[in-house]
Amino acid sequence: MTATDAPAPVLTATGVTMRFGGLTAVHDVDLTVHHNEIVGLIGPNGAGKTTFFNCLTGLYTPTEGTVTYKSSALPPKPHLVTKAGIARTFQNIRLFANMTVLENVQVGRHTRTKEGLFSALLRGPAFRRAEKASEERAMELLAFTGLAPKRDHLARNLPYGEQRKLEIARALASDPGLLLLDEPTAGMNPQETRATEALVHAIRAQGTAVLVIEHDMRFIFTLCDRVAVLVQGEKLTEGTADTVQADERVIAAYLGTPFEGAPGEEEAAEVAAAEARTEETQEGDQR
Ligand SMILES: Nc1ncnc2c1ncn2[C@@H]1O[C@H](COP(=O)(O)OP(=O)(O)OP(=O)(O)O)[C@@H](O)[C@H]1O
Ligand SMILES: [Mg+2]
Repeated sequence: MTATDAPAPVLTATGVTMRFGGLTAVHDVDLTVHHNEIVGLIGPNGAGKTTFFNCLTGLYTPTEGTVTYKSSALPPKPHLVTKAGIARTFQNIRLFANMTVLENVQVGRHTRTKEGLFSALLRGPAFRRAEKASEERAMELLAFTGLAPKRDHLARNLPYGEQRKLEIARALASDPGLLLLDEPTAGMNPQETRATEALVHAIRAQGTAVLVIEHDMRFIFTLCDRVAVLVQGEKLTEGTADTVQADERVIAAYLGTPFEGAPGEEEAAEVAAAEARTEETQEGDQR
């Protein structure tokens, strides 16, 4: 295949910057996700990962930069982004707590059903057919995510790990070409985390590309084809699991130790020198 007939990337973010007043949460970030790829997005707390997701999903309009999905610019509204083909889960689970598991998935399906309000109110044959199809598709997704036995449970009664799975099932209900997962294994036990790994592979096998934020490094490095690292809103590096794991700047960013050329390195050195001088003086005083 030549470069010209290669399929367009699923997602292309170019120069994405998001400022909140004086704070630049995301600065000039480029990221591409190709068809059939699982890409990881990692970085310390507050690095801008969720903000970047919000820029990709129409929740925020980036201060600068562009985001395209399959070569088309994304519409600036979350429901239109979902309709275009990007679905997501949230770091803070957002389910309809008092609806059943099945109903939560059916709600996720509404961007793909054509039934209008009047049809729903009249509950005519077309509505009933659409309802049945929607229920069948929702049940397929519950089987796919392992939640079928819980179909009639209220979402709020599910254990935490299953609520996260239900968020994924609901996101899949919009038939996305790209799925964004924000910390899908937070609060999960090791078995649930392994199951989520298998689930993400199965999602990719069905033709949905995945971009995933996670703090669990074992999960990220075994799962992802490529990993991008955000630090203080900027993309520090990007590459295969092996490359990123071996990058001392990444290790330093996580340990909070400055690396050569790191933002703020000079100030950090000045503070360290000042502290050392103070200690010397105090020692001198004690003598
Ligand atoms: N709506 C907002 N208004 C102002 N500041 C915000 C807003 N959303 C995020 N921020 C700030 O932007 C920075 C990045 O936050 P963000 O939640 O994107 O980080 P994160 O990488 O997802 O962190 P974590 O791993 O803890 O989830 C933080 O300093 C945060 O306080
Ligand atoms: Mg976050």
